[in-house]
Amino acid sequence: MKNYINLSDITDLQALITEAAELKKGDSTLEIGKGKTLGMLFFNPSLRTRLSTEKAGKLLGMDVMVMNAGSDSWKLEFEDGAVMDSDKAEHIKEAAAVLSQYCDIIAVRAFPDLKDREKDEAEIVLNSFKKYASVPVVNLESATGHPLQALTDALTISELKQKERPKVVLSWAPHPKALPQSVPNSFTEMMQNLDVDYVIANPKGYDLNPEIRKSVPVIHDQDEALKDADFVYMKNWSSYENYGQKLSEDRSWTLSKEKLELTNNAKVMHCLPVRRNMIIADEVLDSDNSVVIQQAGNRTYAAQAVLKEILEEKVKVTKLGKNA
Ligand code: CP
Repeated sequence: MKNYINLSDITDLQALITEAAELKKGDSTLEIGKGKTLGMLFFNPSLRTRLSTEKAGKLLGMDVMVMNAGSDSWKLEFEDGAVMDSDKAEHIKEAAAVLSQYCDIIAVRAFPDLKDREKDEAEIVLNSFKKYASVPVVNLESATGHPLQALTDALTISELKQKERPKVVLSWAPHPKALPQSVPNSFTEMMQNLDVDYVIANPKGYDLNPEIRKSVPVIHDQDEALKDADFVYMKNWSSYENYGQKLSEDRSWTLSKEKLELTNNAKVMHCLPVRRNMIIADEVLDSDNSVVIQQAGNRTYAAQAVLKEILEEKVKVTKLGKNA
């Protein structure tokens, strides 16, 4: 793996999930990251991604540097040919090149503005780092995807599934703010690569990008979708059609105990942070059905598997260079 910008960077998904599961056992001493540095830049807040990826790097023997971009560093200009007379003091060309002097892997979190679909889909921040950095780049959640979360979710489902082909439902839920589509996008892409019966439930107006959901069934009746589900992944997202808009706060979509009874005693997932009694009712989150803590715990091993593959690729490329 050269970079981990989106799920298409994965060469062998099953092998990566197995690797993450093996790393979780924690019985191997890993030194592959010794003398290597992971630099993480956060343009937005984080709890899980920041700490689990830092832990993952350290478990591999890496040094880890973290910076809150924007508040701690210079404001970055991403436009080619810009006359830099605004508040943006540094161009991404220098910033990414300089970070590559200090880091062996650069990881970046940059959320969308949710104002201009075309601009968000261009993934300017992530793609600029990829373009101007001379080291691998990892996506810590971007405008349109959260591939580290999706790998975590795949690991969690593979650990907990009790049948060969479980029914997995991704359900929209109400939220006071308009949120990105990154998590549901990457989860949907991931589910299409696993042996699961996958269904999305959302109110009308909330269908995800058709290029991502492809032929995945979308059901606008949540109760119908939940029937016999083995896994229910609750998540809010803003409208794709009316881009970035919050169209509804329909509380009947909150996952309650009664709704959970429609399922096959489903495991309940959420990427966190979760708004209690908006997305999922207390009685569900506090029940044995909820696997959100195990899921969050798995963030470390998904990140560790990805960083390990990238470091291994770097070793391979260096060896090839020496032997050439
Ligand atoms: N799930 C997730 O990405 O959590 P954080 O926003 O806290 O990193």
